[in-house]
Amino acid sequence: MSASTLVTGIGLLVTHDPDRPERADAALVAEDGVIAWVGDAADAPAADAVVDVEGRCVIPGFVDSHAHLVFAGDRADEFAARMAGRAYEAGGIRSTVLRTREASDDELRTNAQRLIAEARAQGTTTIEIKSGYGLTVEDEARALRIARELTPETTFLGAHVVPAEYAGDRDAYVDLVCGDMLAACSPHAKWIDVFCETGAFTLEETRRILTAGADAGLGLRLHAAQLGPNPEAIALGVSMGAASIDHCTYLTGACVDALAGSETVATLLPGVEFSTRHPYPDARRLLDAGVAIALACDCNPGSSYTTSMPLMIALAVREMGLTPYEAVRAATLGGACALRRTDVGHLSLGARADLVQLDASSYAHLPYRPGVPLARPLPLPLSVPVS
Ligand code: NIG
Ligand code: FE
Repeated sequence: MSASTLVTGIGLLVTHDPDRPERADAALVAEDGVIAWVGDAADAPAADAVVDVEGRCVIPGFVDSHAHLVFAGDRADEFAARMAGRAYEAGGIRSTVLRTREASDDELRTNAQRLIAEARAQGTTTIEIKSGYGLTVEDEARALRIARELTPETTFLGAHVVPAEYAGDRDAYVDLVCGDMLAACSPHAKWIDVFCETGAFTLEETRRILTAGADAGLGLRLHAAQLGPNPEAIALGVSMGAASIDHCTYLTGACVDALAGSETVATLLPGVEFSTRHPYPDARRLLDAGVAIALACDCNPGSSYTTSMPLMIALAVREMGLTPYEAVRAATLGGACALRRTDVGHLSLGARADLVQLDASSYAHLPYRPGVPLARPLPLPLSVPVS
C-alpha cells in the first residue's frame, strides 16, 4: 500500500531545481520514498501523514562520494606527530594495512557501521566506500564484500599503495591488481580507483590499472594531485572518462583546463588539508572555469578521520572561496554527479526523498555555526498520522 507524507512548515527548502534552487515557506510530499510534490506550504495537498518542521531549513541529504571505511585501528600518533611538524606520506597507509589484515570480518563490519552511523547522524544519506587496506586478493575481496553490505557505491582500490611484501617487485603487484585481484573484486565493486601520486602509483601503472578496470566493466575514479601538482594524472583521468578525480589539491592551469568542459567532477576533500596541513584547493577557480565540483570527507584513519559533511562545508566556505549555497550544492548534487547518480543530491520531483533538516532557518548556518550539530536526517515515511 502506498504511503504519502506531507512535510510542511519548511522555512527554506533547497531543491537544486534549476528553475528554482531554493524556496521559502515551502512544503513537499514524499510518496513511497520519492518526492511526489513540491510547492508553497499554502497550496499543499492532503497526505496520509503530516509533519511540521516549524520553520527549519530542509536540504537534500549529503552525498559523501569518497570514503575509506573498511579498516581497523587508528593513527592518532601519526596525526599528533604531523601537528608537531612531520610531513604526511602515502606510506602511512601500510600500517593500517597490517592492522586490517589481522582483524576479523566482524571487527571491520562493526567499525564501518559505526562510521556510517556517525555520518548519518550528521546528515549523510548516500556514501561511497573504497577497499584499499587489504592489498591481497582475499583481503581486498573481503573489504568489498563488507562494503557492499553497507552501500551500492563500492570502489576497488587495490592500487592504494604497493604493499611491503611487493616492495622489490612492484610490477608483480600491478599484475596482481589487474589480474586475480580485479577478478575477485569486480563482482562486489561498481568503481575502480588508483592513488596516482609519488609514493603510490605512477602514471603508466595508473593507465594499466584503470584500463583493466574499465575492461572488467567498472567505472573509473582517481586519487590525484594530493601531495603535489600532477597535471598528467588529471589529463589521463579526464581522457579515460573518469567520473571523478579526487583531491585536486595542487592545481595548475593545465589541470583546470583539462577538467573544464569535461564530464569529470573534481572532488575536493578539505578534511585532508585540515589534517595534513597542505594548502586548501582553490574551489573558486574551478567553479569560475566551469568545472563541476563535489565535496567529500575522505574518511580514513590517515589523512582525514572525520565523517562530518557540515565540517567540509564550513572549510569550503572559510578556506576555499565558495558561497554557502555553492558549498551545500557541492556536498549534495556535486557528490551525486561524482557518483553519476541522478536520483539523489536534489529534491526535485522523482528524486529519492532523502531529506535533512537543519536546526536553523537557513543553510548558511552550517558554515556560520561550525562544529554545532545542526543537521539530521528526517526519516520518511513518518509515523505521524494526520488525524
Ligand atoms: O585519500 N590518498 C590516499 N588515500 C587516503 C589516505 C589513506 C591513509 O593515509 O591511510 C586519502 O587521503
Ligand atoms: Fe581517499
